[in-house]
Amino acid sequence: MEFQGKIALVTGASRGIGRAIAERFAKGGATIIVTATTNAIEDVAKEISSKYNVEVLGVAGNVSKEEDVEKLFNIILDKFGKIDICVNNAGITKDTLSMRMSADDFDAVINVNLRSVFLVSKAASLIMMKQKYGRIVNMSSIVGMRGNIGQANYAASKAGIIGLTKSLASEIARRNVTVNAVAPGFIDTDMTKAISDKAKEDFLSMIPMEKAGTPEDIAEAVAFLASDAAKYITGHTLVVDGGLLLR
Ligand SMILES: NC(=O)c1ccc[n+]([C@@H]2O[C@H](COP(=O)([O-])OP(=O)(O)OC[C@H]3O[C@@H](n4cnc5c(N)ncnc54)[C@H](O)[C@@H]3O)[C@@H](O)[C@H]2O)c1
Repeated sequence: MEFQGKIALVTGASRGIGRAIAERFAKGGATIIVTATTNAIEDVAKEISSKYNVEVLGVAGNVSKEEDVEKLFNIILDKFGKIDICVNNAGITKDTLSMRMSADDFDAVINVNLRSVFLVSKAASLIMMKQKYGRIVNMSSIVGMRGNIGQANYAASKAGIIGLTKSLASEIARRNVTVNAVAPGFIDTDMTKAISDKAKEDFLSMIPMEKAGTPEDIAEAVAFLASDAAKYITGHTLVVDGGLLLR
């Protein structure tokens, strides 16, 4: 029960990687706040709560909107009075070649994937600095390190997260708040189900471990960075990709 007594926020936790992260913290005994864009998140919260016998609160909202983030943190402070762990996981894709990409689709991906990390981390770090304790973990991607055809908006957002993570880490390290990122490779979720079979085959053929990762593989890396074992690690991006970046 390594997370007992801890209050952990996970954004974009209705499914996939976010849900696996929330379940990993629940297994460790944390009290959890999960968010997603629709009210269905309340049912997800109930399911996780009854499976692991911990308190889980579901809050619907759009983490790229300042007013929704303000509401979210008012709820967290009213109900729990603190926040120990903040995982910025919410993300979307709107893939197409750069020359066909609309400015609206560029902005939409930057807003949900990067602006949200700024807004949520800012709100969390203000509280964490006063507490002199906190762990922030941001979900990047290996695509932010190597680029990818059809993902200029997504790659820019995920590279931006790495820069934001390093900057914020430097700013608040002296207050015992760490800020790190996780960069998953190819993980089997609804997001990657949308990719064509050909693109999937190409990705899989590049992975030295010859298989896609699971949401649980990513959840374990996030749990490590949020744990006391990682207390001297900050500003780091932990790649979890079965060796994909090696090729
Ligand atoms: N699946 C992969 O291979 C992979 C690889 C690298 C990085 N990632 C990153 O991991 C994270 C999770 O990916 P996934 O595959 O589980 O995706 P997913 O599409 O299965 O889940 C995304 C979650 O984010 C939520 N969300 C989307 N927009 C939101 C918003 N504006 N406000 C609040 N919540 C919002 C959705 O409701 C959902 O719960 C994303 O940031 C993604 O970019 C995924």
